[in-house]
Amino acid sequence: MGVFITFEGPEGSGKSTQARLLYERLQAQGYPVILTREPGGTRIGEMIRRILIDLRHTEMAPTTETLLFSAARAQLVSELIRPYLKTGGIVLCDRYADSTFAYQGYGLGRDLEELHLITGVATGGLLPDLTLYLDLDVEAGLQRKRLARDRTLEVAHPGSTFATPPEWNRLDARDLAYHQRVAAGFAELMRREPARWRCLDAEQSLEQLAEQIAAEVEPLVQGVARLESYG
Ligand code: TYD
Repeated sequence: MGVFITFEGPEGSGKSTQARLLYERLQAQGYPVILTREPGGTRIGEMIRRILIDLRHTEMAPTTETLLFSAARAQLVSELIRPYLKTGGIVLCDRYADSTFAYQGYGLGRDLEELHLITGVATGGLLPDLTLYLDLDVEAGLQRKRLARDRTLEVAHPGSTFATPPEWNRLDARDLAYHQRVAAGFAELMRREPARWRCLDAEQSLEQLAEQIAAEVEPLVQGVARLESYG
């Protein structure tokens, strides 16, 4: 079996950037590694993602939302994650099942036992070897994401304030109290399983954080066979 590493954090914590930096670093070191994300990562999963984040889908029931995240996850685990781990490679995933506990469980108030059941079915019980939590104040993170959205809007539609923001999705648009419950939920998840989680300060510079992440990951990937190089 390979090594399965996931990234979690509030909106705007920079986890997608850090996941990519780690991916590039491991690849440069000759490790067999893939980077994927949730919801998405497969053809079917990316279609489910579009349904989930669509700002028009205001009528989506919490159960539907939970099952769609889980359906995308089931596809990702069976199509990509398990087969790659079986070859002995490293899988990096931008969000995973912990997001369901934090967002749908603590955030939306779904029953945690029920989520355990659904998640068990979706993943077949596959747990990450390591979960990196990029810790950032909720308001600061939302502010970062809004700024990024406004910049994108300005580029795509100069002077426009009414176009649909491409970087601002249905789930970001929930209120601050929701995002704070999510962050408290992540804190609870970390308390319950301290051995699997590392909580890292996402306020530090991008480079410092990347170094810290690399140091956390190194002991885990040491046993992974590197690819032959003819270069
Ligand atoms: P995305 O744009 O990828 O956000 P981020 O960059 O913060 O990861 O959108 C994913 C959104 O879906 C994000 O708001 C978190 C949410 N989410 C859940 O609510 N439940 C889940 O199980 C997962 C995987 C994500």
